[in-house]
Amino acid sequence: MLFFGSLGLLSATEFLIASVVFLLIFVTIKSSWKRIPQGLKPLPGPVGYPIIGSMLEVGKNPHLSLTEMSKKYGDVMKVHIGMRPVLVLSGLETTKQALVRQGGDFMGRPDLYSMRHVVDGQSLSFSTDSGEMWLARRKLVQNALKSFAFSLSPDSVSSTLLEEHVSKEAEYLVMKLQQVMQEQRRLDPFRYLVVSVANVVSAMCFGKRYGHDDQELLSIVNESEQFVEVAASGNLADFIPLLQLLPGKSLKKFKEFNHRFSTFLKNMVKDHFESFSKDNIRDITDSLIELSQEKEEKNMKTQLPTGKIVNLVNDIFGAGFDTVTTALSWCLTYLVIYPEMQKKIQREIDETIGSERKPRLSDRPLLPYTEAFIQETFRHSSFIPFTIPHCTTRDTTLNGFYIPKDTCVFVNQWQVNHDKSVWKDPFVFIPERFLTASGKEINKDEAEKVLIFGLGKRRCVGEMIARWQVFLFLTSLLQELQFTVQDGVKVDLTPRYGLTMKLPRCEHFQVTKRSTKKTTE
Ligand code: HEM
Repeated sequence: MLFFGSLGLLSATEFLIASVVFLLIFVTIKSSWKRIPQGLKPLPGPVGYPIIGSMLEVGKNPHLSLTEMSKKYGDVMKVHIGMRPVLVLSGLETTKQALVRQGGDFMGRPDLYSMRHVVDGQSLSFSTDSGEMWLARRKLVQNALKSFAFSLSPDSVSSTLLEEHVSKEAEYLVMKLQQVMQEQRRLDPFRYLVVSVANVVSAMCFGKRYGHDDQELLSIVNESEQFVEVAASGNLADFIPLLQLLPGKSLKKFKEFNHRFSTFLKNMVKDHFESFSKDNIRDITDSLIELSQEKEEKNMKTQLPTGKIVNLVNDIFGAGFDTVTTALSWCLTYLVIYPEMQKKIQREIDETIGSERKPRLSDRPLLPYTEAFIQETFRHSSFIPFTIPHCTTRDTTLNGFYIPKDTCVFVNQWQVNHDKSVWKDPFVFIPERFLTASGKEINKDEAEKVLIFGLGKRRCVGEMIARWQVFLFLTSLLQELQFTVQDGVKVDLTPRYGLTMKLPRCEHFQVTKRSTKKTTE
């Protein structure tokens, strides 16, 4: 009796829950149907569960699960993550259509909980602003980078400032790696690359470099995982508000990291204010101070208040060190997995540059295989699997589907880079796919299909700097050194999902100085 009674009670509760769920789904679907203008289609996608949406299907590797889902639902699909509908874009043509041809409609940034913690919600890259102020600040960053990366160095007739900074850092790095090898017989290259790359961006922003054991710098650059894991597309706390109240370890670390990073930059900017002189503009921070003072005098509309300088520096420094370090550590990993490719690059360096002088940016067109290797590293790793999330700025349509204003948009770069309809054997690492038939030039049409810097109005402002740095660091390292891993060590190529995807740290790299008779190797 008790058994039947409890079963009956359970069934009634289940029935009630099912009815409420059904009603909720029905009302949601009905209300979205109602709003779709005639002739347009509703977005396809999985229905998902109440409250959690398709969270379980999306799982820990959204780039893989959303790629799978796009095979069923298409290049334009709607997936509920938690309670929020997210538009997921796949396919090269669809992505170009949205971000380039309809760029204005898709250029916004959604209001996400995690993004509010980046520079107190004032970041150029992550804040919800995509209007006049964002555009003015984006231009400021582009101009600042132009002046302190692409201008000719005062110490040279032909090198740019960036070239000088990278060459100097690469030289220190070669020495440091050899020294660590002598002392420890093995090393984790990420630990040293990150300081060298941070030193390049620090030279541009602050005119300062740090030692490889500087604890202040290390406590920031060595902990960037704490940022990229939470800032990634699909972080659940952004989509299920309840999770923001729970004491999650990664969210706490993320907030602490942002605070530490911001304090570090504030101190640098404060020092610059104290020693600022209009007649001696030393670096990006000085040039921003000058600009903010000029605009204050002229009372211009798109003013740069002095308090905002640190936000812009934060965008440049933050975007500048983690991305390039991650790119280089993927390059080194592929080099030890494919030693024959490492030899081919070294042969190209030996034959064109030799060993008497350092690699220069003007060598880039002369080293097509090296360029193709870098491009294949970008494609195959797709280490920035999604762009920073976008959102629609107005009601719009795409491929005949209706998309309301303020819809959060994920752009699946990983899917585009592994799409069988675009690439032959997309999972195989083949640098030659980016060479012309003669093998002497980069096939530009193929190279342009790789999506790693985003597209359109939000396209990365540091792309050129990033490409230059990866090329110069890589060629400088390979001119002097040979990279391998210790015998018996299997390199794990499974990345950890994040805004930038990193490989597990490997402490078993071996570095040896190359012999002087290089071309005979
Ligand atoms: C290999 C290195 C790099 C990669 C793969 C990369 C990739 C990206 C991507 C995917 C975005 C987002 C695009 C979007 O939301 O649609 C972005 C934005 C941005 N990147 Fe990079 N980036 C790299 C290096 C750099 C460097 C070196 C800098 C500056 C020194 C930089 C500065 C920025 C800024 C400021 C934005 C925000 C643009 C905006 O929201 O308007 N990046 N980058």
